[in-house]
Amino acid sequence: MLILGIESSCDDAAAAVIETARPGAVTVLASAVANQDDIHRAYGGIVPELASRNHVITILPVVNRALDGAGASLQNIDGIAVTRGPGLVGSLLVGLMCAKGIAQATDIPMVGVNHIEGHLLAPLIEHEIAMPYLALVVSGGHTALFAVEEYGRYRRIGTTRDDAAGEAFDKVAKLMGLGYPGGKVIDEMSKRGNRRKVKIPRARVKGAPLDFSFSGVKTAVATFLRSEGGQETAQEDLAASFQEAIVDMLIAPTLKAAREIGASTIALTGGVAANSRLRECLSASAADEGLRVVAPAFKYCTDNAAMIALAGSWRLLRGERDDLTIDAAASLPL
Ligand code: KG4
Ligand code: ZN
Repeated sequence: MLILGIESSCDDAAAAVIETARPGAVTVLASAVANQDDIHRAYGGIVPELASRNHVITILPVVNRALDGAGASLQNIDGIAVTRGPGLVGSLLVGLMCAKGIAQATDIPMVGVNHIEGHLLAPLIEHEIAMPYLALVVSGGHTALFAVEEYGRYRRIGTTRDDAAGEAFDKVAKLMGLGYPGGKVIDEMSKRGNRRKVKIPRARVKGAPLDFSFSGVKTAVATFLRSEGGQETAQEDLAASFQEAIVDMLIAPTLKAAREIGASTIALTGGVAANSRLRECLSASAADEGLRVVAPAFKYCTDNAAMIALAGSWRLLRGERDDLTIDAAASLPL
């Protein structure tokens, strides 16, 4: 079965073509993304109106790039999987209308997919992982722990009470004058810094050991920057100390959650999964407990349509389809 995936929930417009014969066994034939970082950088964050307007311009060229890259045309496509939520409603609508338009014109079966399900299953693109596994979804919009029990059965067992981890990276980078998005810059800069130079308190959510809270870290950095020490400390040392706090705060609940659900694999996914220190520390502490850590290649960590095609594939393989009345849902629950 050849599946066309379409994703436009936030600021990336993406399309992919995958080939699959059974759930979880997929070959990505092409995956294309139109990234908008250059457009939003000037504003220090995503401007929803600009994101959706640009999707209108890029969505069809991106779909064509994916089809061309796969050496396929719409005649070869057996199913369409499209993100219908959660996300920015204006952005979601562009991809969803594009998918509906193709489905109506060609009668190709279409299913609407939850974006988070895409992130949860993304590690399966390149790895065989036995279920149940624990997924840590850690991006600019989400930070949560999910038990992936089987296709279609996902249980959220931990979440952030305030900012997402990627949001903390981006806000701290902005405070430090490092531009947007900030995660990658802080990651690189931290390699040259002293992780113990600046004391950053690690927050825990009382009574909820699987939940996260990152807003205090951002405030600690802001307060430090206004202090006398803030003027004198090297940016590398502050970046490394901040990053270490975030990594520490992600690891403890993740290991606890893996133990609780009896998972032998932790799948790391979302944009922050690219963080080199997080990968290093989580792999080391998980190995101490006999757990395996699997992280997708960076292009499948960040928003992409291959993961959306995969998340729709198990339903399309069963012969399911959604009718064309499905709507975009900004807060679609999983
Ligand atoms: O998954 P993604 O592309 O978009 C969302 O759905 O949010 O994630 C983007 C987030 C941004 O906050 C960015 O700063 C962060 O991922 N990020 C990183 C790194 N690369 C990207 N954070 C920490 N270290 C990195 N190397
Ligand atoms: Zn995402």
